[in-house]
Amino acid sequence: MKGLILSGGKGTRMRPITHTAAKQLLPVANKPILFYAVESLVGAGIREIGIIISPETGDDVKECLGDGDRWDVTIDYILQDEPLGLAHAVKTARDFLKDDPFVMYLGDNLIKDGVGPLVQRFEAGQADAFILLKEVENPSSFGVAVLNGDGKILSLEEKPKKPKSNLALVGVYLFNHEIHNAIDKIKPSKRGELEITDAIAKLIDMGHSVDSHVLTSWWLDTGKKDDMLEANRVVLDEMTEGKIDGFIDDITRISGRVAVGKGSKLKNCTVRGPAVIGENCCLENTYVGPFTSIGDRAKVSNAEIEHCILREDCQILDFHGRIEDSLIGVNVELTRGHHKPVAFRLMLGDDSKVEVV
Ligand code: DAU
Repeated sequence: MKGLILSGGKGTRMRPITHTAAKQLLPVANKPILFYAVESLVGAGIREIGIIISPETGDDVKECLGDGDRWDVTIDYILQDEPLGLAHAVKTARDFLKDDPFVMYLGDNLIKDGVGPLVQRFEAGQADAFILLKEVENPSSFGVAVLNGDGKILSLEEKPKKPKSNLALVGVYLFNHEIHNAIDKIKPSKRGELEITDAIAKLIDMGHSVDSHVLTSWWLDTGKKDDMLEANRVVLDEMTEGKIDGFIDDITRISGRVAVGKGSKLKNCTVRGPAVIGENCCLENTYVGPFTSIGDRAKVSNAEIEHCILREDCQILDFHGRIEDSLIGVNVELTRGHHKPVAFRLMLGDDSKVEVV
């Protein structure tokens, strides 16, 4: 069994953050989303992993993951020139996949449970494909499946305007070589992509069996800012214990599960977990509330931060205000001259979104 992780695409929905970075490298609880996918495959005993990369962000992905040594697996990088769809990505990976069965994992998806039990079930069964489904409130944002009473798939549709069920396709799929024949028979969708959903529907049309499992544990598609914050919240919430490796002064108060990395200094702060503070950070007179992660080398003073992701090297100095529900990119400088009256001096990139509340 091989693994194929899709880390190409354009990430337009996460701009401006993804103007400079691959969305799959954004951190959840201070770890790139992509690591969760790799670790899930490694946990299932998969030793050969192919990663689909794009010309724009491929080098960053390579630099971040390396050659797989860290997990004792081999990682092959497969360049997809254009994001022409998930099935197109599989086609692009044909030389790597050969005729082997594989787990395809969308690099911006996170699921709670590992894929080990799914791999075992697929290997033990007769199906040519295995998909995961999850009940959602907004099915029209996803691939949607309709099942009959016995759990057999009746139909599959990609992002239907009028969904016939609330069962979304989760971004983790298991296939054998038959998927390649199905992909060869499909045409690009209205949005111009070769859809994996159409390829699975084609497999069923061709008389192959597709097994499915409805997830009851959490699944997150980290496509937008609020999804990222939700992923951060859920992963931090599952953190079982804190760990303080940095320096905490006598008047700093820490409660709940809090991790503080090596070389970090906290002076006169209050931190309420679950929260993660990276390495070599400097926090002073600051409140850090639950569900916050702060990247390495960040500097924060006189501020309140809650339910936020602050990335590496950002500086929020003498802010005298509260920042919540925010995603702050690498190396951002955020300052406020005086807290009353409020005057903002902003330099913002294309497509930035600013919410002043
Ligand atoms: O998240 C689950 C959903 O993922 C499914 O319910 C849908 O059926 C499926 O089509 C997919 O929809 P998305 O619109 O969310 O896919 P997205 O374009 O965000 O791409 C998913 C990942 O695959 C992302 O990490 C980028 C990567 N990708 C995407 C395309 C289109 C590639 O590597 N190459 C591509 O050509």
